[in-house]
Amino acid sequence: MKNLRDNVFCPKRPLQDGNNGVKLSSMKDIPANPNEPLSAYEKAAIEGNDPRCSPHYLKGIPPMGSEIVKPVYSDEHNENWGFLLNRQMSLLPGRAGQAFLDGVRLLGLTDQGIPGLAELSGALESATGWKIARIPGLLHEKEFFELIAQRVFPSTDYVREKDELDYTPAPDCFHDIFGHMPMLTEPAIADFYHLFGESALHAVGHQRTCLERLHWFTIEFGLIRQTEGLRVFGAGIMSSKNEVVHALSDKVEVVPFSLENVIEQEYEVWHLQPKLFALDSFDQLVDEFRFWSSRQGLAA
Ligand SMILES: [Fe+2]
Repeated sequence: MKNLRDNVFCPKRPLQDGNNGVKLSSMKDIPANPNEPLSAYEKAAIEGNDPRCSPHYLKGIPPMGSEIVKPVYSDEHNENWGFLLNRQMSLLPGRAGQAFLDGVRLLGLTDQGIPGLAELSGALESATGWKIARIPGLLHEKEFFELIAQRVFPSTDYVREKDELDYTPAPDCFHDIFGHMPMLTEPAIADFYHLFGESALHAVGHQRTCLERLHWFTIEFGLIRQTEGLRVFGAGIMSSKNEVVHALSDKVEVVPFSLENVIEQEYEVWHLQPKLFALDSFDQLVDEFRFWSSRQGLAA
């Protein structure tokens, strides 16, 4: 039986026109390159997992920032959001990193309904210069990286249904907003993710695999060692009730972060993670990534 897992390179849906100066010229109808290794999600799609997890290409420029119109959510969807947020927040004391908790407060995330992406985008832009684009589902890597490289975070605006509160394989805004956005208020992570997107646009062959693993073990499943002890900051853990309990349990092997080790580490999307990496600081991530991407010829 599959355990709870969340999406990595998130969302897709019919798009509105609009362009905040973001260039997405290479985002249309990009054919899959048979010479490039498949991402974990492309493999999952081929293996017959939930079709909502199959990445798709965008057909135009997604609405961004103040262009994003907030949907009228049903009471049930707002209740689902509130339930998920309260459940996660109750598990976070002693587990979540300080930067994440500060980000939740800065963004004003509460159990009082699904927040609007336009407002969240404004708060992020004030904090670290990131904006939000509303996208309809899981994106192919190329499109995802085009946005990330321009400090634009792609987010869904729909929440999982009541019968999937404990498990959804599909992208949703609880993962995108609650899982990801708080850490984008942290300056070093904001800069790392930007650099990551720029490098990823130029990566080929095994470099793509390296970046996918680095994304997984930092942005999605990263741990950080604070003075109080080991804490979580990855979005895949933060948005999953099972992962957030599991991550700091004795069932997980935690090893000191080393970029060279992370990029050699395979992982599986559909299982609770047996091995995680702990940063000493977010600056360590930026420094090691700058060094590696420069050596690989990927630095912008
Ligand atoms: Fe994610």
